[in-house]
Amino acid sequence: MAEAKTTTTTRWWRGAAIYQVYVRSFADGNGDGVGDLQGLLRKLPYIAELGIDAIWLNPWYPSPMADGGYDVADYRAIEPLFGSLVEAEKLIDEAHALGIKIIIDIVPNHCSDQHPWFLQAIAEGPDSPVRELFWFKPGKGEDGSEPPNDWQSRFGGPAWTRTTNPDGTAGDWYLHLYSPEQPDFNWTNRRVHDEFEDILRFWLDRGVDGFRIDVADGLVKEDGLPDLNGETPEPLPFSDQDGVHEIYRHWRRVADEYPGERIFVGEMWLPDPERFARYLRADELHSAFNFDFLGCPWEASALRGVIDDTLAAHAPVGAPPTWVLSNHDVTRHVTRYGRADTSFDFGDRQHLAPTDFDLGTRRARAAALLTTSLPGGVYVYQGEELGLWEVENLADELREDPVWVRSGHTDRGRDGCRIPIPWGGAEPPFRFGDGTAWLPQPEEWSDFTAEVEAADPESMLSLYRNALRLRRSEEALGDGDLTWLDLGPGVLAFTRSPGFACVVNLSSAPIPLPEHDSVLLTSAPLVDGDLPSDTAAWLRLS
Ligand code: NOJ
Repeated sequence: MAEAKTTTTTRWWRGAAIYQVYVRSFADGNGDGVGDLQGLLRKLPYIAELGIDAIWLNPWYPSPMADGGYDVADYRAIEPLFGSLVEAEKLIDEAHALGIKIIIDIVPNHCSDQHPWFLQAIAEGPDSPVRELFWFKPGKGEDGSEPPNDWQSRFGGPAWTRTTNPDGTAGDWYLHLYSPEQPDFNWTNRRVHDEFEDILRFWLDRGVDGFRIDVADGLVKEDGLPDLNGETPEPLPFSDQDGVHEIYRHWRRVADEYPGERIFVGEMWLPDPERFARYLRADELHSAFNFDFLGCPWEASALRGVIDDTLAAHAPVGAPPTWVLSNHDVTRHVTRYGRADTSFDFGDRQHLAPTDFDLGTRRARAAALLTTSLPGGVYVYQGEELGLWEVENLADELREDPVWVRSGHTDRGRDGCRIPIPWGGAEPPFRFGDGTAWLPQPEEWSDFTAEVEAADPESMLSLYRNALRLRRSEEALGDGDLTWLDLGPGVLAFTRSPGFACVVNLSSAPIPLPEHDSVLLTSAPLVDGDLPSDTAAWLRLS
């Protein structure tokens, strides 16, 4: 039995730098072209050297990969392509030995249609009691040929798929907020709660330090599953329902039984910052991804607004904000920041919009200093520390993301931010592994390998290493608060105590730096002592 939580906790998560590993694309240890735990194990020293406190791994469970592992067939095992449970335990131990914590993904809204419960529900037919663990409903219309309601899948098309009964007749429909291969669990059923509590314990017993909760706002559906009728109510009937908070209060009690502050990070894309902050109350989740910041355009006033709103929403619940620029679902920010419209929106990925990569990179460098110095935690998505861009010219037949097919080939989806990492060498697969990588890498990445960048003090990798190293040694950085400095329009500048300032120039002309003792780090060289456009500086104040 785990020890009770002590009062001498580190609160490590309040200011942690967390590195996101998309296992499939990180490093391939066995030469089959797919990233795996062996590959990740070998790269742990790289992550440690980067100055990272914790790794968040995307789902590592057995999965048919209909949605990159977010279709889980078994929550207590490891996908054979990635390795074994023994390797997972070794990874946890070795990461811990390097002072790195491990956060795993938990997917409680839905599973895979190959999960034993769902297979049983289909095989046993309409009277199967196992169907109550999902949302099976008769269709509408005389012959039940219309979906039970008008909800749409987030990947496009109806959120319902009709089943075929064991006798071959057309049967009930089941709900899937994502692809048909991802049936939604019915969280009104006690057995679902018990199962997930057991899964949490399974991994907590193996030493994981936390969970990133997929679709954290989606578990509870509004009673009666009401039609939307073309409206967009807040909250939506399949998102942010009040009942979901009770689930997390319960999960929190489970995690708090374990020593060492095991944490929950919520994935919620919610429009209302105050409703978002309700998930971060002291007896619920520890933190959540700040997607408003991620989606914000590269403009000083807009960023200032998002930062202020974030701080204001988090303060009343005492939770630390987080700062995120990229992840496995969104267009990489080197690309976003090089476009005329620098915002991100799932509604339009601006696929192949004209992009100035030098500008995008320059801004991404400045953004790295901004995010790593704001109060709270920060996420780094694998490859952003190398300045990798969105690969937009991938051949359509190579696309694996279900978004591409489900959107009727209108949204080219997320494969372009999931391209395998270039580690070294002059040509693909750039030592990602020995075999052909599961998605092809651009030839141009020969100049963006970890090997090349480690040897170049001006590279993005060197910038991230310097920033994260300073972030650890500067008392002012990480958890805490900030005070804005007014340095004029187009400039974001703030101080943090003791003795630190960050200045980001988003205007089109150089600006003088405020009074300071020394310059700790800049994202580009100063020009005659001034801070050029799209450049950030960290300053030591007296
Ligand atoms: C959010 C995950 O980040 C995304 O990759 C996935 O497709 C959906 N949730 C559904 O699980």
